[in-house]
Formats: sequence, structure tokens, C-alpha cells
Amino acid sequence: MTQRIAFVTGGIGGIGSSISQELARKGFKVVAGYYPPEKDLAEKWQAKQREQGLEFELASGDVSSYEDCEKMIKDIESRVGPIDILVNCAGITRDKTFRKMELGHWQAVMATNLNSVFNVTRQVVDGMLERNWGRIINISSVNGQRGQFGQTNYSAAKAGVHGFTMALAQEVARKGITVNTISPGYIATEMTQAIAEEVRQQIVAQIPAGRMGTPEEVAFLVGILCDERAGYITGVNYEINGGLFISF
Ligand code: CAA
Repeated sequence: MTQRIAFVTGGIGGIGSSISQELARKGFKVVAGYYPPEKDLAEKWQAKQREQGLEFELASGDVSSYEDCEKMIKDIESRVGPIDILVNCAGITRDKTFRKMELGHWQAVMATNLNSVFNVTRQVVDGMLERNWGRIINISSVNGQRGQFGQTNYSAAKAGVHGFTMALAQEVARKGITVNTISPGYIATEMTQAIAEEVRQQIVAQIPAGRMGTPEEVAFLVGILCDERAGYITGVNYEINGGLFISF
């Protein structure tokens, strides 16, 4: 069987970096996506991974732009090959209480965290349908499930991500494509590090596991969903939050 190709948006970022590594270790050819202004950072990341024995292709593109995504995916397909696995992981926060939230804060988060899922998935789904195989994994958040003070924009976008998953899962299931959501809780990355120390401590105090999660713990789950044997798992939201929000 030819080596399957995985594309991870935000693939050099906090959680994305671990996802890229996990998929590479599982034997997939991995393309890590990055935001164009982070070119230097991406190249340093790639060199560091190489030192550790992991080879990655890089792909530059602003996931909030449909045109950028069209170009980015065409470029990956011509340089590397068709995408079998897509992990939509790129995301940002612009935390503000609603009365302080400006249109720009709302639009940036909706464009990068939700429109991006359309923009990128739209480019790869036809190829997956033709080849009768695909894995699409959308990274949402516990805060999409339960809402978070200071995150009307982020909570709305992340809740929207799972709506997308549930609908698309039904449309493509007959063609061997699974579509799932992973909703991480508070994971130790730069994004959660940016929360004010006092607020962060209050949040961690509410987590039954008594700690933040690690990017590797999220990546492990992504690896499972990409396995050949995961072909019957679709339309599901996986919670990985140390017990912060428990539902069924
Ligand atoms: N519930 C109720 N009231 C709260 C509150 C809460 N959780 N947090 C703050 N308040 C109150 C304060 O006590 C204060 O009350 P008073 O005005 O009566 O003193 C008021 O709200 C403060 O309101 P402000 O608009 O002035 O808020 P601020 O500018 O000080 O801070 C904030 C707002 C930056 C959003 C801050 O609340 C914050 O950082 N919250 C955490 C947001 C968060 O969890 N982000 C997650 C980022 S990581 C991520 O998103 C990854 C993931 O998927 C999990």
C-alpha cells in the first residue's frame, strides 16, 4: 500500500506540532501547515524535527482565506501527492467579555477557527471521495461544548465545528471517509499560557484531573482515528479534558 499523506493545519503549533509528530511516527507522510508570516519559525521547526529523525513537508497558507487554501492544497498535491488525512487544527483566540468585543475580534476568530474548516476541507473532499478513503479530524474545544466566560467568539466557532462534523460525516460515510471532532480541554500550550496567571490557576483548580492536558495526549487520539481499523467511527465528538466537562 502506498504511504498515506496527512495534512495538519496549524501543524507547527501547540497541539498541531504533536499531531504532526504522532502521524509521522505512525508512518504517514505528513505536511505541516503554517501561517505565512511564520515562515522562519516553520523552517526552524522543520530543522529541529529533522534532528530528531522526523521528516516533514511544510505548506504555507492563511486558512481564513479560501483563495489561499485553494493555492495551498494544489501546491501540496503537486509537490507531495493527494491528501488522505486532514486535521483541521489551526486556531486562534481573541478573548474579551462580550461588551468589550469588537467586530474585528469576532470576525478573526470565526474566520480562522470556523471558516477555515470549510476553506480547507472543501479542497480535499473530492479527492477523498474519488479514492474511497479519507480521515477528517476537526479540533474543536471544551469551550465550544460548555461556553466560556470571555469567549463568545471562540465558543460559537468551536460549537460550529462539530455541527460541520456531524453533517459532513453523513454525506461522505458511504465513500469510506470518516469525519470526527476532538474537543480538547485546557492543554499546556502557548495559547493557554496567554491566559492571565490568576485566571489560569482558577481554571486548573476546576479540572478534576488537577492539571492541564498535554499536546501528546490529544495527538494520541488523532493517531487512533487515522488507523485503518477506525473506519466505522464517524460523526463523533471526543472529549479530552481531564473531566472538566463530562457528558454523553
Ligand atoms: N465568571 C463570572 N464572572 C467572571 C468570570 C467568570 N468566569 N471571570 C471574570 N469575571 C468577572 C470579574 O470578577 C469582573 O467582575 P467585576 O467587574 O464585578 O469586578 C468582570 O467579570 C471582569 O470583566 P472584564 O470585561 O473587565 O474582564 P477582563 O477584561 O478583566 O478579563 C478575560 C476578561 C480576558 C476574558 C478573562 O476573563 C479571561 O482571560 N478569561 C479566561 C478565558 C479563557 O478561558 N480562555 C481560554 C483560552 S485557551 C483556549 O481557548 C483553548 C481551549 O480550547 C480551552
